[in-house]
Amino acid sequence: MLLGVNIDHIATLRNARGGVEPDPIKAAAICEHNGASSITVHLREDRRHIKDRDVYTLTNTLTTKLNLEMAMADDIQKIALEIKPYSICLVPEKRQEVTTEGGLDVAGQVDRVTQFIKPLIDAGIFVSLFIDPDKKQVEASKETGAQFIEMHTGAYAEAYGCDETEEVEFQKLKQAAELAQSIGLKVNAGHGLNYENVHRMHEIVGLVELNIGHSIISRAVFTGLPEAVNKMVNLIK
Ligand code: PXP
Repeated sequence: MLLGVNIDHIATLRNARGGVEPDPIKAAAICEHNGASSITVHLREDRRHIKDRDVYTLTNTLTTKLNLEMAMADDIQKIALEIKPYSICLVPEKRQEVTTEGGLDVAGQVDRVTQFIKPLIDAGIFVSLFIDPDKKQVEASKETGAQFIEMHTGAYAEAYGCDETEEVEFQKLKQAAELAQSIGLKVNAGHGLNYENVHRMHEIVGLVELNIGHSIISRAVFTGLPEAVNKMVNLIK
């Protein structure tokens, strides 16, 4: 199983000061150097974290794969067709949400999704649909021609450790993955995965890649803080 690292939070921190640090491009290189098999960035319609320039630069600097998360927006589709990332992951997007809240309703808009992803597939970009682990959504995803699904693991992550609900949510993921694989879809997973709950992903046979952001960046803050403080203390002594 491979790890894709989502670096949106690095851009959020950079944008808080409007400057250039921390640099998402440098973060991506560090992730790659330490075993990430791909880098995910979500170019949101409101550009609240990752900016167009980040995406263009990553296209030239990454040594692994760029996975571009995007909504069904024509201007973002145009950028994707220009830079041709290794893959795109289609997500629903709401202006006010803090992060991607639910899976894409593919079943409710099969034709629209099919039409939207066709030029991307024709351009040689792998297309993944971010969906809830639900039979209807898996079957609809297959109909669109997408090669991958990314299962939304948020409900499992929230239920983790809860006697009544963890197993229920986990079984939804397992069954959705089995169904998807049986009809020829490749399966990724992500959202809310952390250092405690990630181990159960190994019980799902054949998962290709996990996309993880928040827990990794959060941990990095604390593992990096001692060195950062120490260095400054020594500098000002
Ligand atoms: N996969 C998708 C489609 C997402 O939208 C996100 C969050 O941006 C992730 C994975 C990563 O989720 P988290 O930051 O909770 O690890």
